[in-house]
Amino acid sequence: MAVGVFDSGIGGLTVLDAITRRLPELPLVYLGDNAHAPYGVRTHEDIFNLTCAAVERLWEEGCDLVILACNTASAAALKRMQETWVPKDKRVLGVFVPMIEALTERQWGDNSPPREVAVKHVALFATPATVASRAFQRELAFRAIGVDVEAQPCGGVVDAIEQGDEILAEALVRSHVEALKRRMPHPQAAILGCTHYPLMEATFQEALGAEVKVYSQANLVAESLADYLTRRPEMLGSGTQSKFLTTGDPKAVSSKSTQFLRRRITFEAA
Ligand code: DGL
Repeated sequence: MAVGVFDSGIGGLTVLDAITRRLPELPLVYLGDNAHAPYGVRTHEDIFNLTCAAVERLWEEGCDLVILACNTASAAALKRMQETWVPKDKRVLGVFVPMIEALTERQWGDNSPPREVAVKHVALFATPATVASRAFQRELAFRAIGVDVEAQPCGGVVDAIEQGDEILAEALVRSHVEALKRRMPHPQAAILGCTHYPLMEATFQEALGAEVKVYSQANLVAESLADYLTRRPEMLGSGTQSKFLTTGDPKAVSSKSTQFLRRRITFEAA
């Protein structure tokens, strides 16, 4: 019984860590497509093809259920994968919906009509591809009315993190927050809509100010996976071993993961 966790790079490790805290006995196979990161500047077609290839690799590891711990893949490819590609005995789930359910104070599977919610002004920080997909606004519109969303495409941040350049990543985060605040001076909530961004959460919070509630996905996704597995225990695949796979250079990826996550992580070649 192993579950697959996929991201374009090391950002999905923030989700993997939260799943490990919530479900410590569950073996997890992580796959980072570091050779092709960042996805955020690629076309939807490209993101679809790369994500399908990565998910197939995780199926080979005995993970019938794969979590796309990547908003860009969830926004640009997941719907098409579910509708046209995923076989009946496998599941691929994204990271978008659990976060929107939290923001709109909904329980899982509550399909009642959209209603007014407490937060009215929301800042969304995500990759250019996620922002361009408008998937966040679409999913939000199913659940809430009257929420004003201002989205900031945060070009360069994933690249800086993937290159292990913390100083550049911090400077870029500050300039993206400033750019957003020029258009929405007083957001009530901010969504970190990219799994790489929790690695920069302290900088986002500082630049936004203490009064802004920052929603970060990792714990929400872990909670929703735990809930899913109690309903669908048969989706625990046949794999039994946790491991970290990368399409990039295992040594370089291990070292920047260890730097950002502040614990030793050892990758092997996918
Ligand atoms: N962590 C991915 C996400 O959540 C990063 C995307 C990228 O590779 O640009 O969107």
